[in-house]
Amino acid sequence: MSNQTDFMPDSFYKYYSGVGFREPDILKQLREKTAGLSNSQMQIAPEQGQFMALLVKLMKAHKTLEIGTFTGYSSLAVALALPALGEMICCDISEDYTNVAREFWELAGVAEKIDLRIGPAMETLDHMIADEGQVGTFDFAFIDADKVSYPGYFERALTLLRPGGLIAIDNVFRNGRVAESGENDDATRVTRQFNEDLMQDSRIELSMVPIADGLTLAMKR
Ligand code: DHB
Ligand code: MG
Repeated sequence: MSNQTDFMPDSFYKYYSGVGFREPDILKQLREKTAGLSNSQMQIAPEQGQFMALLVKLMKAHKTLEIGTFTGYSSLAVALALPALGEMICCDISEDYTNVAREFWELAGVAEKIDLRIGPAMETLDHMIADEGQVGTFDFAFIDADKVSYPGYFERALTLLRPGGLIAIDNVFRNGRVAESGENDDATRVTRQFNEDLMQDSRIELSMVPIADGLTLAMKR
């Protein structure tokens, strides 16, 4: 589950939900809608949405990237935190899930800020780098798509980011499986190695934040 912060007892989460984050009504509505769909566990936690929105505001981010949009909760949280002329490029492979996202971007009045690219994100990112002149132009990026591709997404996001820009990476805990040597599904193995590689990566400042299912923050030096 990453719909709420892992490693926190449900009884405490109940308290935390009352004082720990504010969830705009439109995000609450999207959460309720997504809860009825398959794969709803892929949605980020509300405390994580608020945290990412705060980071985006703090950085005065203008241009952001999202890899893995699903029904749009994280993109909406970030888009609401962007200035009126802010921009976001969202990558996803699913028309169905992102149709829900589009509906809520419209309802929230942020659709103008968002450029949704349907297709394999690796191809979209390579195109942005090779053909669109977007290298070094992004302030913030959120990686939350297929876990085995995280290393490739990270390299491309780092290329697209300006120095001082921030990458946030979801699910770095894999519900605790990264710490269990017997857990060796592909996604967990790749995430475990990726976490170790980031520790050694001198191109970034690093903080692995124990919110939701683990959110690594990597600032490009
Ligand atoms: C899964 C993917 C996610 O990005 C997430 O946050 C939770 C679960 C999944 O693939 O099941
Ligand atoms: Mg995720």
